[in-house]
Amino acid sequence: MKKLFVQYSNIYMATCVLHYLLVAFLIAISYNIDAASAGITRHYQFDIQLKNITRLCKTKTIVTVNGKFPGPKVTAREGDNLQIKVVNHVSNNISIHWHGIRQLRSGWADGPSYVTQCPIRTGQSYVYNFTVTGQRGTLWWHAHIQWMRATVYGPLIILPKLHQSYPFPKPYKQVPIIFGEWFNADPQAVLQQALQTGGGPNASDAHTFNGLPGPLYNCSTKDTYKLMVKPGKTYLLRLINAALNDELFFTIANHTLTVVEADASYVKPFQTNIVLLGPGQTTNVLLKTKPSNPNATFYMLARPYFTSQGTIDNTTVAGILQYEPHSKSSKNPHSKSSKNLSIIKPSLPPINSTSYAANFTKMFRSLASSTFPANVPKSVDKKYFFTVGLGTNPCPKNQTCQGPTNTTKFAASINNVSFILPNKTSLLQSYFTGKSKSVFMTDFPSAPIFPFNYTGTPPNNTMVSRGTKVVVLKYNTTVELVLQGTSILGIEAHPIHLHGFNFYVVGQGFGNFNPASDPKQYNLVDPVERNTINVPSGGWVAIRFLADNPGVWLMHCHIEIHLSWGLTMAWVVLDGDLPNQKLLPPPSDYPKC
Ligand code: C2O
Repeated sequence: MKKLFVQYSNIYMATCVLHYLLVAFLIAISYNIDAASAGITRHYQFDIQLKNITRLCKTKTIVTVNGKFPGPKVTAREGDNLQIKVVNHVSNNISIHWHGIRQLRSGWADGPSYVTQCPIRTGQSYVYNFTVTGQRGTLWWHAHIQWMRATVYGPLIILPKLHQSYPFPKPYKQVPIIFGEWFNADPQAVLQQALQTGGGPNASDAHTFNGLPGPLYNCSTKDTYKLMVKPGKTYLLRLINAALNDELFFTIANHTLTVVEADASYVKPFQTNIVLLGPGQTTNVLLKTKPSNPNATFYMLARPYFTSQGTIDNTTVAGILQYEPHSKSSKNPHSKSSKNLSIIKPSLPPINSTSYAANFTKMFRSLASSTFPANVPKSVDKKYFFTVGLGTNPCPKNQTCQGPTNTTKFAASINNVSFILPNKTSLLQSYFTGKSKSVFMTDFPSAPIFPFNYTGTPPNNTMVSRGTKVVVLKYNTTVELVLQGTSILGIEAHPIHLHGFNFYVVGQGFGNFNPASDPKQYNLVDPVERNTINVPSGGWVAIRFLADNPGVWLMHCHIEIHLSWGLTMAWVVLDGDLPNQKLLPPPSDYPKC
């Protein structure tokens, strides 16, 4: 009996040890998983430097990152920490924005000059330090001061965590295609001239794919973006619209694209031949190549969507989609050398095709799966109604202006407030140090002070007011915002970008928003999640977001001239009560004015 007991207790002991080992093993595994999902730190250095570059037969000096145009690709995985040291070697001030990165509690690294930091001056440097949390997909980075982003921009690719997959078939290859706008003149001079005369800015001279204008422009056949593909494969094209002022239609002849992601959020896949991107927007599309070599090359084209009266660069950038030739040994009588291949050209909608734009925008739905849910706020704490559009400022006495009349300058506003950036401090710094009273006011109107028929006959008085005003939100406020376009000086689409958050697009329509009937049509099931949305030309869009990120966050039209004219405002989101709900302190190398 005693022996039996000993045996039993030995077995018991052995089981305990096994159990202990198993628990230890499981803890070790989960620790490793946690360690993997916590991510790594990735270091980059951005040297802001001049570079001579020739486009359209003209050589000019441009500001670049590391002498590259477009700038270097930054790659990270979800969960990684990025530390990007920006060293300014040029005479211009600079700051870099990581467009679409949420910057949870790290608003000091967001980048807009005079909003979250003072610019990095000549000879100075600043390490942008932030962690990519809960995001994966295509974003981009760009200068965020005046028009420096004309040449200072590049892709920011966030891969899924290790061992996590895409919610679509794994692509054979991934290719960023970043759309830009090329000026023969110095873009900073174009801006200065526009602000001085009060007129619209001179239009750009070309659109570009990865910095290349392509064969439809003078001297540019050698500067053509070429995408070489193999038959029977799926390519993930990461499309980014980095143009300064132009919304762009994009298409590839004889190929259908499947949209799978927008602004680094997965969407329910849908097929289209033509994609539309406003400045600031990104879209991932799958390109399935033909099952066998078609013995032809295919143009990919982009050119603007534009509904207003002003002058615009309506030129077309072309790139070439080309199938890799059969292996040289194969004597296929049907394969031709690439020089003899016919070029197939696609067509694009009319330049002012608002109907195409509206139908296309409606196709976007979030994936709303268990892994990637649509966390759209179902109830709303605060509602705002903002008009967005153009307006005028008076022309200074003893000057003749080139605005809508010779006594006015062009301006732009939200709720008739044309935003003035501070110039001796940043909004965030003044807020954090408790010195904001002399820098900004907290009375940004939650609705127009003088309501009017926003999309009807415009009012006689088009003058804007000017100021530095913000909306203050308590931590974790759920916000609904209706953005209403106006017809003042012409209806036009406005790609509105919100820093620090993604929002859900719950509704949109033409004409004036109707607060009684329109909310009944809201999509609260699978609305698309984005960081930049077009306010339709002559219409409105309704968005919702949760203000769970303390800091100061700019919201603006991503058409650069509209931003320069004041079409921007800022949200101040207060700290929450818990320690992990507070803005972190500023880094030691934070640029002061
Ligand atoms: Cu991509 Cu405030 O901008």
